[in-house]
Amino acid sequence: MHEQISPHGGKLVNRLVDGEAREGLSARIGELPAIRLKGTELSDLELLAIGGFSPLEGYMCEKDYRTVVREHRLVDGTVWTIPITLSATQEEAAKIKEGVDVALVDDTGKRLGIIEVEDVYRRNREEEAQAVFGTTDANHPGVARLYETAEITLGGKVTVLERPRHDDFKKYRLDPAQSRELFRSKGWETVVGFQTRNPVHRAHEYIQKCALEICDGLLLHPLVGETKKDDIPAEVRMRCYEVLLEGYYPGDRTALIVLPAAMRYAGPMEAIFHSIMRKNYGCTHFIVGRDHAGVGKYYGPFDAQKIFDDFTEEELGIRPLFFDNAFYCKRCQTMASFKTCPHKESDHVYLSGTKVRELLKKGEDLPVEFSRPEVVEILREYYQQL
Ligand code: ADX
Repeated sequence: MHEQISPHGGKLVNRLVDGEAREGLSARIGELPAIRLKGTELSDLELLAIGGFSPLEGYMCEKDYRTVVREHRLVDGTVWTIPITLSATQEEAAKIKEGVDVALVDDTGKRLGIIEVEDVYRRNREEEAQAVFGTTDANHPGVARLYETAEITLGGKVTVLERPRHDDFKKYRLDPAQSRELFRSKGWETVVGFQTRNPVHRAHEYIQKCALEICDGLLLHPLVGETKKDDIPAEVRMRCYEVLLEGYYPGDRTALIVLPAAMRYAGPMEAIFHSIMRKNYGCTHFIVGRDHAGVGKYYGPFDAQKIFDDFTEEELGIRPLFFDNAFYCKRCQTMASFKTCPHKESDHVYLSGTKVRELLKKGEDLPVEFSRPEVVEILREYYQQL
């Protein structure tokens, strides 16, 4: 029996409470001061609870927050690139001080769990924007979201009674402990994780299958938390993944699981963050292609690969697999990339996101070299009812 990859920091965190402790917390949670989770804080709570963010056990205290922003590490030196924070409005903060337990409430007013407040501090959101997103431009969707959050920040361990409620994708919602169990049961020693917030087109399929040539299993791990408005909704994407897996992927070597995280659009910093989460889910390898987690022209096409040079293989644990820009080449008559194809760009079948939208809105087809017909069908239906 092989040993699975260790979770980040060594131990898979579980902050979901059960048994007597659960009854005790249920009995007192109603009396506690409360704070409403905003923006990404709700999906972050879920990932904290299930160990997707191991070794984090709660929202960051100031010490960790500062070293993450300035050095891309937690205070103890563990690699971490994205702040996981909980903000409080002036009104909420007035009732809260260090040392108290505060109930964490969702949009419907439901009390999901608590934070044991260890730290109340103020964030410098511009410094954070520059460090995490590489820009202070409020047109960047991640920066815009950061600027909307309050400056006052609470740090401390969380304990979760009730996970955020989801009525969708139930059979694909596996926690890191469950995905690890799945990989174990399949006997996969090496598993490559694929992050996506888009439908899977031929270029994605190609790099996934190149990776599968050298790994035992592929985890198609679409992010289904908050994305920006013009991204294709997760529900439509999921149908695309299902038809694709059914028609074109080896069932005994592929797993589809959803990642309940919110998208940050932080390019390089998010590529590291994405790989750490996949390590927690049990992946040994992680695909980083062209402009990973990018948006607009904020990052160079391979910045998200170069950032991996800043960390050693040992401290990251999961191995990135880098891919050049992939496409179908009419002269090679196969999928290829700039690394493997000697022909001119005019021989390549490439469509921009804008072109794809334009064609599908008009009800037209996409070339089979760009996307599988079954996927095109679902996307066309979606774009036409917009
Ligand atoms: S992301 O924001 O989740 O990174 P997307 O779903 O488009 O966006 O990409 C998923 C993964 O595929 C990323 O690692 C990205 O770099 C890679 N990728 C997307 N398109 C290509 C392409 N044409 N060639 C190579 N890699 C690509």
